[in-house]
Amino acid sequence: MDHFLYRDGALCAEDVPVAEIAAAVGTPFYVYSTATLLRHFRLFDEALEGTEHLVCFAMKAASNQAILQTLAQAGAGMDVVSQGEYLRAKAAGVPGDKIVFSGVGKTAEEIRCALSGGIRQFNVESEPEMEVINAVALELGTRAPITIRINPDVDAKTHAKIATGKSENKFGIPISRASEVYAHAASLPGLEVIGIDVHIGSQLTELAPFEAAYQKVAELTETLRAEGHDIRRLDLGGGLGIPYTRSNEAPPLPVEYGALIKRTLGHLGCEIEIEPGRLIAGNAGLMVSKVIYVKSGEGRDFLIIDGAMNDLIRPAMYEAHHDIVPVIEPEPGVESQPYDIVGPVCESGDTFAKQREMPPLAAGDLIAFRSAGAYGAVMSSEYNSRPLIPEVLVHGDQFAVIRRRPTFDEMINRDTIPEWL
Ligand code: LLP
Repeated sequence: MDHFLYRDGALCAEDVPVAEIAAAVGTPFYVYSTATLLRHFRLFDEALEGTEHLVCFAMKAASNQAILQTLAQAGAGMDVVSQGEYLRAKAAGVPGDKIVFSGVGKTAEEIRCALSGGIRQFNVESEPEMEVINAVALELGTRAPITIRINPDVDAKTHAKIATGKSENKFGIPISRASEVYAHAASLPGLEVIGIDVHIGSQLTELAPFEAAYQKVAELTETLRAEGHDIRRLDLGGGLGIPYTRSNEAPPLPVEYGALIKRTLGHLGCEIEIEPGRLIAGNAGLMVSKVIYVKSGEGRDFLIIDGAMNDLIRPAMYEAHHDIVPVIEPEPGVESQPYDIVGPVCESGDTFAKQREMPPLAAGDLIAFRSAGAYGAVMSSEYNSRPLIPEVLVHGDQFAVIRRRPTFDEMINRDTIPEWL
């Protein structure tokens, strides 16, 4: 459920007509709904009620500080994967003891930054990384809390580019080597081994792969405890999928996911962490764009819009489907027609949808890409020298620009010319 509905024929973000925002900030832009962000966060929080837990928003999905602060004020922690994300979370007011640091390639500098600024735990992905964390912790005269990410070798049954829990993926250490690696970690004086981490992939639409992975985590917890490790925290990653179309089968709900966690792991008495990104932010955001031209091609009509693959890369990168809706609701009885919806970038891959049924549209009309709140703005680039598009946050009947559109000068003046030219 989200808060982007038609009212009197006008698509609204909560109580604000999307067209009003377009008039104020120009197109294209991203708009997020506070109520939807909070609703999704609370669904997870409530699903884990009765168990000591922390929901850490995977901020790679949407990292604007206004979004982070909205969630942090509701009690969320953050899952970060780079120094930039760590510093952004801190800048948004998230305390270090609510930030977990994931990722396969943490550098010594990143580790130093997080360890001196405060960190809940590092989710360690390899033995060489473990050695570096140990060395940095000793250098700072402290001990680093760590979990070790294990790769459970389960098939997440999702797009190959976002599956992470198979043995051929680069993530974690093979579960078969866990005892050995935990013993190694326990021998390093700069580390405090507190738990286990697992994340098997993103946009999972079934519970079975989670169940398979969490059962392996439960067994491993018992094994490691028997080997003398004080396993007291389980970080279960993110990955619960969202409905990208209103027609397809609905993925499992957070409450069902929470019940599965309690069922498979509850008896262990561990503190539970989860790292959802997409489910919190995905359906809390739209990308709004304007039709520049309607072009009749051979046997097909193109809607050429002012948003492009650099603004929303998911269709080009993963063949992802996003529902696209007109900002003015079509009158009942208006017949739809198929369009290829494309951006202005000079690549055929700059195609958002082929033969998509839409009401008849004309130059100047606004359209909205649904489910664009996660992995949208954060994956955008300035390809074709197109400035990053603004982000807007709605709260009831108010809206605020939370990242403004840079000027062309700002974009161009970042380049510097060597003196020999
Ligand atoms: N934790 C870890 C360690 C992760 O690698 C990820 C996502 C998450 C949590 C959050 O997963 P979520 O709940 O959002 O599924 N750009 C792709 C998605 C990449 C996901 C990468 N890791 C897309 O647009 O579909």
